[in-house]
Amino acid sequence: MNQDAMKKAVAEAAIALIKPDLDAKTIIGVGTGSTANFFIDALAKLKMDFDGAVASSEETARRLQHHGIPVYDLNNVADLEVYVDGADEANEHLELIKGGGAALTREKIVAAVARRFICIADQSKRVSQLGAFPVPVEVIPMARSHVARQIVKLGGDPEYREGVVTDNGNVILDIYNMNLANPIEIEREMNQIVGVVANGIFAQRPADILLLGSSEGVTTLR
Ligand code: 5RP
Repeated sequence: MNQDAMKKAVAEAAIALIKPDLDAKTIIGVGTGSTANFFIDALAKLKMDFDGAVASSEETARRLQHHGIPVYDLNNVADLEVYVDGADEANEHLELIKGGGAALTREKIVAAVARRFICIADQSKRVSQLGAFPVPVEVIPMARSHVARQIVKLGGDPEYREGVVTDNGNVILDIYNMNLANPIEIEREMNQIVGVVANGIFAQRPADILLLGSSEGVTTLR
């Protein structure tokens, strides 16, 4: 089974998990990236069974709309039953690194609102300790150098992701070599730097369910 087949398998496993709870009022939070795209394509087949979706990026909103799935502004949604999204890394505590696609801030907001967060990923994303993948940090453009200097003090090596502007009009620093033995603490410390909008460590709000695809099938971690 190749990586795309594993992503498709976990996307379909997520559909099977949420399907029994769908009704005409259900609004689903939808993530960003290639794995989330498989989920969107599978979700489109059920579009008569739920109300609509909240998108974590403009790209996801376009894909949902292309399938005829109504996209809601999160401010107009009182209840978000579930959020389904991929990850760049996941550990056994279901703590994640996200933001490889630069959508981390909106992803974090939707994950914070959702009652359940189902993370879908292929086996290559599973790690014993987070941090081999550089931690994306969304930064207000004028604060870029200040934030980079503060992150060096925390032990990280920031690299400016050139040419990338987020959906919120900000820039991304990718942080290499950060010691993430205590992800909750580092997530908090990075959030306290003035100019940081959000960072890609999802430890304060980890996933509730992790579906991991491998050539043997889909494993569920809770
Ligand atoms: C986007 C993300 C994605 O979920 C993450 O990068 C994984 O992407 P893919 O499913 O393409 O491997 O956080 O900001």
